[in-house]
Amino acid sequence: MLLVHSIKELIGIEEDGRLILRGSAMPEVRSITDAFLLIEGDRIADYGKMTAKRYHELKLRIPETDQIDATGRLVLPAFCDSHTHLVYPATREIEYVDKIKGLSYEEIAKRGGGILNSAKRMQEITEDELFDQAVSRLDEIVKMGTGAVEIKSGYGLTTESELKMLRVIRRLKESSALQIKASFLGAHAVPLEYRGKQTEYVDLVINEMIPMVAAEELADYIDVFCDKGFFTVEDTDRILNAGMKYGLKPKIHANELDYSGGIQVGVKYDALSVDHLEYTGDAEIEALLNSDTIPTILPGAAFFLNMPYAPARKMIDAGLPLAMASDFNPGSSPSGNMQLILSMASILYRLTPEEGLNACCLNGAYAMGISEDTGSITKGKLANLIITEKMDNLAYMPYYYGVNKVFKTILNGKLQ
Ligand code: NIG
Ligand code: FE
Repeated sequence: MLLVHSIKELIGIEEDGRLILRGSAMPEVRSITDAFLLIEGDRIADYGKMTAKRYHELKLRIPETDQIDATGRLVLPAFCDSHTHLVYPATREIEYVDKIKGLSYEEIAKRGGGILNSAKRMQEITEDELFDQAVSRLDEIVKMGTGAVEIKSGYGLTTESELKMLRVIRRLKESSALQIKASFLGAHAVPLEYRGKQTEYVDLVINEMIPMVAAEELADYIDVFCDKGFFTVEDTDRILNAGMKYGLKPKIHANELDYSGGIQVGVKYDALSVDHLEYTGDAEIEALLNSDTIPTILPGAAFFLNMPYAPARKMIDAGLPLAMASDFNPGSSPSGNMQLILSMASILYRLTPEEGLNACCLNGAYAMGISEDTGSITKGKLANLIITEKMDNLAYMPYYYGVNKVFKTILNGKLQ
C-alpha cells in the first residue's frame, strides 16, 4: 500500500465511467483540494478529503515509509502519449539545419532524406542497439510524466527491418513499467527501390508484411501515412482492409500535408484515431462527428515543421473529442515531452488547461484503446500518476513552460 497525503489538489477525477470526452465535455476536470490518495498493488484504491475519518485510520495503519507527503503539490493522471515513433536508429539534426535553411519536409523526403534516411540507418543497426536507445528514451519520458505510450514501426520499410522494429517494441512492452501499444506502419514511405512502383510496395505490405506481423502477434494497430506525396486513399483502403482481416484496427496518419481524404478513409474503416489533421475542413469534421474515431493533433510536429495548425477550437466547438500526442520522432518532432504539448495546446491551439489535460490524458488513453484502465483518477484504474513540483493550480502546468514540472511519476503503483 502507498498513501499519498496532504495533496494540494487531486486533479482529473472521473467516476462516471466515461472513456472519452467530447465537445462541451472537454473542459470538465473534477478535482478535490486538500486530498489523499491510496494505492493498493498497482491500482488506485481510494481517495478523498484529508478531513475524512478513514484517512486518519489509514495514516495510523500504513507505515511511514509507505507514505508520500505531497504538501503544496498537485497529483494528476500520468500522460497517455498515443502517437510516437520513438524506436528509431539515429537522430537527424543535419536535416533540421537544411530545413532552417529553407528546404521543405517534402523536398527533403524527395531527396531520399527524411523517413528514408532513417530507413537506411535501420538496416544497419542491431536489434540490441535499437532496444537500448529506446529504453533511454522511455526513461526520459517517464521522468516527464508519461505513463502510457504508443510506438510505431515504419522506419524499416523492408519485411525484415519492420519485424526488427516491432520485436524491439515487444521487448519494451515486456520490460518497461509503461503501458505500451504497438502499431505496424509499413506504409510510412515508399522505399527507394520501389520508386515508381508504389503499388508493388503496397502489395508487399499486404501480402508479406501484414501476415508475418500478425503471425507473430507483433502489432495492436495498423497505420498508413495517407497524404500527398506518400500513400493514396486507394492504397490506404487496400492496406486497412488487409489489416482488418487480421484483426488490426487502424490508427492512421492523415491530412498533415493536404486535404488527402485520409480522415474519411479512416472513418470508413472505423479507425481508433486519425492523427495530424492540419488540413481539416467542414467535410472532415462532419465525417468525424458520425464516428467513434478520435481526432488526434500532434502539436510538436506542426510547431517543429512550421506548418499550419489544425483547427482544434473549431473541432471541439463542433462537438468532437480531441486527443493530443507528442509524435516523438527524429524528423518532425524530436521531443517526447508531454508537458510541452500541454503548453502548445494552450498557446497554439487555444485549449484551456483543463481541455489540454483531457486531450493528453483520458482522450489520449482512448486513442490507444486503454481508457478503461488508465487516463484518469478513477478507483480501480492503474495507479499511473504524476506528483508535480510545488504549484498552486493546474494552469501553472502549461504556463510555466520549458522545464520539467514533474516531481515524481508513479507507474503501476510504484514510484519511478
Ligand atoms: O508523424 N508524418 C509522418 N511521419 C512522421 C514523421 C517521421 C519522420 O520524419 O521521421 C510524423 O511526423
Ligand atoms: Fe507520426
